[in-house]
Amino acid sequence: MRVSIIGSGYVGTTIAACFAEVGHEVVNIDVDSEIVSAINSGEAPIHEPGLAELIDRHGGDRLTATTEYDAVRDTAITFLALPTPAREDGSIDTSIIEGATETLGETLAAKDGDHVVTTKSTVIPTTTSETLAPILESASGKPVGEEIHVAMNPEFLREGTAVSDFQNPDKIVFGTETDAAKHALAAVFEPLIETTDTAVVNTGIEEAEMIKYANNAFLASKVSLINDIGNICKEYGVDAYEVAEAIGLDDRIGARFLRSGLGWGGSCFPKDVAAIKSAAREKSYEPLMLDAATAVNDRQPQRLLGLLHKHIDVANKRVAVLGLSFKPGTDDIRNSRAIPVIEGLQQRDADIVAFDPVATDNMRDEFPEISYADSPAAAVADASAALVVTEWPAIAELDSEFDTMATPVVIDGRRAIDRRDGIVYEGLTW
Ligand code: UDX
Repeated sequence: MRVSIIGSGYVGTTIAACFAEVGHEVVNIDVDSEIVSAINSGEAPIHEPGLAELIDRHGGDRLTATTEYDAVRDTAITFLALPTPAREDGSIDTSIIEGATETLGETLAAKDGDHVVTTKSTVIPTTTSETLAPILESASGKPVGEEIHVAMNPEFLREGTAVSDFQNPDKIVFGTETDAAKHALAAVFEPLIETTDTAVVNTGIEEAEMIKYANNAFLASKVSLINDIGNICKEYGVDAYEVAEAIGLDDRIGARFLRSGLGWGGSCFPKDVAAIKSAAREKSYEPLMLDAATAVNDRQPQRLLGLLHKHIDVANKRVAVLGLSFKPGTDDIRNSRAIPVIEGLQQRDADIVAFDPVATDNMRDEFPEISYADSPAAAVADASAALVVTEWPAIAELDSEFDTMATPVVIDGRRAIDRRDGIVYEGLTW
């Protein structure tokens, strides 16, 4: 099948390469000519495990990239994988996806036959039908629902495991209103549906849009709930990880996303929770649970700093911040819990030395004024305290290195380090 994808960001490039891998002819369109030429010469424009191999295999062959929209006319279906950045008030800015939809509509004016336009980006319910569909209609001069069809197919890929998440999905959601759209989506995903036992959810377009937000809001809230419970555990000297393990055995609760600690960051949970809360308020609904999930999440770094200050006044003392990315396996620092931790240490005049295996350069752009160590051992050497922010294996393996600290105070925000003799150890929720 011939498939086009507009946007070569993290989602667009990954799904383009994965669709090529399952046998489709894929055209990836992006405004950035450097990304386009990278893909055509078989190089991955972003770092994601497994992606480089797929682009090396198919780039310039079954997977091509271009800055021109004309190529979409030779395809049956287009996926819109464009950014929907957050505005100040948390709502999403749809101007990029709207602009691309307009150009797509103008291009489709000169196409004969059916074409399905599928929203892949995370958008608030009604965006596809009430914002994008009218743009397509006026730009193409064709009514939506006859030759041009719209659909919504949300994405659940995680950073760091996006390729394997694509290849082994828990579920695939098709939000459609017409049989043509439903059949086109089923055909694109047929190779995956046939070879995996993934659930296929056929639903309406608005439901598909909401499923993505509900998924991320639920998971973020699950982590905040175990953090809330974990904070109570800490006050009573109870180990929240033993509690979580037991409650996770109840299949109504489930074992995943029950790791309490510093909370959630990244590009999706904070942005999506903020956007759906803002959308709720647009309708005069107060999202009390989601507000609480955000409040608990915002408080966790402050609790970590509070534990630190119980043990030591950090003014003019060397403090190691271990881990800077929002989770292990990525160099992404967007909304990383390391940011409020560093800011809190700066307010208390600490002399900060940070370590991360891959995210140092990104954090240096944010905080050029702090020091960065080349290894976790170098970060903790002579430090008066160490804060574990991200559970990278290289950080979890630290042991005798703590003996080189000036005062061995270790405050662990991720349950990465084992409690042992010779260090003053505090877990955030245990
Ligand atoms: C998430 C969703 O999982 C994915 O389906 C969606 O498409 C994009 O957003 P991602 O942001 O890559 O993926 O990271 P994820 O692995 O879900 O972790 C999110 C945050 O929650 C991280 O900061 C992580 O440290 C935190 N987390 C996760 C916990 O604090 N405890 C847990 O038990 C799980």
